[in-house]
Amino acid sequence: MTEGSPADPAALERRLAEIERDAAAALQGASSPDAKQEARYRYLGRKGELSQVLRSVAGLSEADRRRIGALGNQVKERLEALVDAGETGAAVATQALDPTLPGIPIPLGTLHPLTRMTDEVCRIFRSLGFGVADGPEIETAEYNFDRLNTKEGHPSRDPRDTFYISQLRASASDPVLLLRTHTSPVQIRTLLQGRLPVRIIVPGRVFRRDQVDATHSPVFHQVEGLYVDEGVSLAHLKGVFASFARQAFGASATVRLRPSYFPFTEPSVELDVSCVFCAQRGCSICKQEGWIELLGAGMVHPNVLAGAGVDAARYTGFAFGMGIERLTMLRYGINEIRHFYENDIRFLKSVGR
Ligand code: DAH
Repeated sequence: MTEGSPADPAALERRLAEIERDAAAALQGASSPDAKQEARYRYLGRKGELSQVLRSVAGLSEADRRRIGALGNQVKERLEALVDAGETGAAVATQALDPTLPGIPIPLGTLHPLTRMTDEVCRIFRSLGFGVADGPEIETAEYNFDRLNTKEGHPSRDPRDTFYISQLRASASDPVLLLRTHTSPVQIRTLLQGRLPVRIIVPGRVFRRDQVDATHSPVFHQVEGLYVDEGVSLAHLKGVFASFARQAFGASATVRLRPSYFPFTEPSVELDVSCVFCAQRGCSICKQEGWIELLGAGMVHPNVLAGAGVDAARYTGFAFGMGIERLTMLRYGINEIRHFYENDIRFLKSVGR
């Protein structure tokens, strides 16, 4: 039937049925979204076949007009429903979903090895009764050196070793500021709060003017430790690290103390852990020694205690400072500190869980 031909209600009815059949077939058989849009325009569009039929009812009697018009609208609704329903139905049918396929793994991020090591150190020391404290990365020379019994002229105070921040000083009477060279000033800050006993560890970033090489970086991380109470001795230090070594390096790990020197401790020691890589037979990691140096420590110098307002006749304490990078390198057999800062995902993924 073409536009303008005399309107025959029966013919129009047949035509509607034809359109519904053809349109449904075209919509359901569409192989792509484009093909489906095309079918939709052709049958349901403003100038489409259905619209033509509905326009031609104009020449019919009122009763026929209503009946055919209503029929036409029903056809239209059913076809529109097919367009919408097909949207998902067709997609599922053409993609032939196979629910037994293994699925696409979502890559998960991980914490940085230094973060994981720090968390583990904190967990171990918490289990031994220590709390976690922190302090500022910009420090005064007073806290970083003076109150830690580090006299004028000590080599670590040299501007070739320490980052001083002279720009922030308005006048010569302002405190000398620097990027802290160790976490030890947090000992002073904590003791000055005046609550004893103190049993803390302090993880944090520290800064030194060091040339970058396989084991040095101008920014690295330390964990400070401080235990001050009546009757604390070097035996407590050794006991704490005997436990730490077993938890961090395995049940067979042991520790030993060697004499050393730090301005803020007396006596001062280095603490070694037995080499877990060769069961102390001697290997490249322990340089054939059977022992690996882990940290510096000692009994807090009476000058330090007194300078932080602690009665040094009554209280004693031990302190230690440990490099996180170094610990992580020992723990995982890493020989290059720069790996930690380059964020090459292949390295980050390779460090053990
Ligand atoms: N602050 C020292 C350093 O950075 C490490 C250290 C040694 C900390 C002995 C201490 C300590 O608390 O008792 O090399």
